[in-house]
Amino acid sequence: MREALRKSNEHHVTITSEDYAKFCEFFYKKTGIVFTDKKGYFVERRLQERIEKTKSESFRDYFSLLRFQMSGDEWQELINNMTVNETYFLREDYQFDAMSNGMLPEIAQERPAGRSVKIWSLPCSTGEEPYSIAIHILEKWALADSYAIEICASDIDTRVVTQARRGVYGERSLQRLSPELRRKYFSKTGVDQYLIREELRESIDFSVTNIIDPLHMSRYRSVDIIFCRNLLIYFDDISRRGAVELMYECLSPGGFICLGHSESMSRISSLFKPRKFGETVVYQKAG
Ligand SMILES: C[S@@+](CC[C@H](N)C(=O)[O-])C[C@H]1O[C@@H](n2cnc3c(N)ncnc32)[C@H](O)[C@@H]1O
Repeated sequence: MREALRKSNEHHVTITSEDYAKFCEFFYKKTGIVFTDKKGYFVERRLQERIEKTKSESFRDYFSLLRFQMSGDEWQELINNMTVNETYFLREDYQFDAMSNGMLPEIAQERPAGRSVKIWSLPCSTGEEPYSIAIHILEKWALADSYAIEICASDIDTRVVTQARRGVYGERSLQRLSPELRRKYFSKTGVDQYLIREELRESIDFSVTNIIDPLHMSRYRSVDIIFCRNLLIYFDDISRRGAVELMYECLSPGGFICLGHSESMSRISSLFKPRKFGETVVYQKAG
């Protein structure tokens, strides 16, 4: 089928199976993401688009550009085109309940009021997750005012991080928010356009971070809770293990990792103890 698609469009350059395999291997080594056969059509279409946009004459030319361009701009553009950024406000919010009813009270028990509590949304995509964390804490954690809460949010994709900083969302993202929360934390700025309150935008520290890059990850230390949800499903066990080991270093003793509902730490790492809060399991670093 791939051959047929290639031939159907004469403007496309030829990508052989070996080229495609080389590309996937390179992408995997740099991001941890594995492209399954099911995604072949999507990946190859995006790849062809970038080859055309950069006016590369062959796959080989494009691949050299990706690897050796000094600025790294094309590599970043490619990542921005290949990632799956699906997210929305209050996604899997039972974990936010576990945070305000279980993890934060435990942290507060060991930590005098006035000190900081650090929470990291990695990956944050377009920002709905870190803003949901902030809203949830303000609404549901009685001690929110007693601690200096720092929320960081990161993603490998520069385009989504820019969107997250702007904080403008459509109805589809806000679907799970009550009218009251919409009124309290957003202003309507247009048809199907809501801007999140400035205090919230300014309270979150957004950055571009690759979870499998030790240098990027070394910028984060003493984090109390990491929300790493709906990313490891795109990895294999080797890159999952690498990411989890780097997150381990970023956490405070006793710190927590929350994974997405279809993700689990079993098979990947024995560094963490599973903890059940309500109906959800999160993973705790030894204290
Ligand atoms: C499906 S979104 C998940 C967003 C949010 N955590 C949620 O659960 O709604 C996955 C995000 O992972 C990001 N991503 C992919 N590879 C990454 C990597 N190596 N490091 C950091 N972020 C990555 C993508 O850019 C994308 O925005």
